[in-house]
Amino acid sequence: MRLNAYLARAGVASRRGADELIKAGRVTVNGEQGELNTFVGAGDRVELDGRPLEPQALAYVLLHKPAGVVTTARDPQGRPTVVGLVNHPARVVPVGRLDADTTGALLLTNDGPLAHRLAHPRYGVEKVYEADVQGEPPEEALERLRAGIELDDGPTAPAEARRLGPGRVELTLHEGRKHQVKRMLAAVGHPVMRLHRSRYAGLTLEGLEPGAWRELEPSELDQLRTM
Ligand code: URA
Repeated sequence: MRLNAYLARAGVASRRGADELIKAGRVTVNGEQGELNTFVGAGDRVELDGRPLEPQALAYVLLHKPAGVVTTARDPQGRPTVVGLVNHPARVVPVGRLDADTTGALLLTNDGPLAHRLAHPRYGVEKVYEADVQGEPPEEALERLRAGIELDDGPTAPAEARRLGPGRVELTLHEGRKHQVKRMLAAVGHPVMRLHRSRYAGLTLEGLEPGAWRELEPSELDQLRTM
């Protein structure tokens, strides 16, 4: 793996931060100064400021994100972050994002390749959202949501939409554009008042209170890997 990825995995810095450490000449591989294009293999000895590093084990965390927490590692405005909330010893970062006021299932990991695959539109990972909306969407509005809505960044892909109760809609999407659910529901005249993601890539929040998290089970991980 590339040296910056190795340093990130070892919990030293983000990849970008690792590039800075490498450029500053603070990283050696087998005693030689590391470069931005240095690759690290099994058995290579990596040191930062002369201190040997071990790559961290891969970690996979499912968080029940509460409202009021931002989906980043660090917020310039000083708001609480999902990474701070999880406070995992491994350097896990969120896969995709939920708006600050959105609650629900959020995956965090330090497995860069898996995170990249899950977030890539090509893989169409399933996300299920429950929305409390203004007004009572008629069947015709749900039909439009299913067929695809013209948004300013293009039409949405076919989705599943069903009524859960008064002023309550469930949307199942296989894409994840910014504010997508809010924009889709606003476009059919029923703006979202509260949004919750009940399911991400088959993972549900069963047994997890808002703010709580757990590590994935090996079987859940296998399922994500075969997606
Ligand atoms: N769609 C939204 O509008 N917001 C989210 O947080 C997730 C999906």
